[in-house]
Amino acid sequence: MTQPIFSRRGLLLGTGAGLLAAQRALAATLATTPHQTEGPFYPVNFPTDMDNDLVQVRGQAAQAMGTVLHLEGRVLDPSGRTVPGALIEIWQCDAQGIYDHPRQPGRERRDSAFQGYGRMLVDAEGRYSFRTLKPVAYPGRTPHIHFKVAAAGSHLTSQFYIAGEAQNERDFVYREAARSAQQRERIEMRLQPASGLEPGALATSMDIVVG
Ligand SMILES: [Fe+2]
Repeated sequence: MTQPIFSRRGLLLGTGAGLLAAQRALAATLATTPHQTEGPFYPVNFPTDMDNDLVQVRGQAAQAMGTVLHLEGRVLDPSGRTVPGALIEIWQCDAQGIYDHPRQPGRERRDSAFQGYGRMLVDAEGRYSFRTLKPVAYPGRTPHIHFKVAAAGSHLTSQFYIAGEAQNERDFVYREAARSAQQRERIEMRLQPASGLEPGALATSMDIVVG
């Protein structure tokens, strides 16, 4: 009987290549969150309080104007694994459409009870959560929340929108990002009453998939 002509080393290499192909196939299962512009209003100076509750600024009695939104989700890689140590930042305008930024006209009228920016590290299950505001429109933009995610080897800058918002389709940044159903799913927040969490507030769950 003739011996097979492939070597043990070849077999091992072949198995390795097969595993790699299988991993690649698995890695293609989740659509990634589309990259979007940072825009002109990323903070120049970070607020003293930059925790994950943007509605309540430490040391202030007043709560921010607007509708409270509980935004939570996980940071995942394309194969659905959690991304350990990911830092997530969000920033947005106040309920009047005013950012806390030097480029913002009328900045002096901003709601000082709104933190405007917050950041947190995901937990061991890759989860994040923010108490913030339902975003509002400002001239030229449909309502949105900006966010960035930084992890080892992955950086993403993007924006969340409100599903069903009539102004979305007229917004250039939204249209560029929402080119497929999978991409829309990654950036459109479905808002629901935050039942049992906070009266009058809304809640949404948004997983962020970084490539
Ligand atoms: Fe913006």
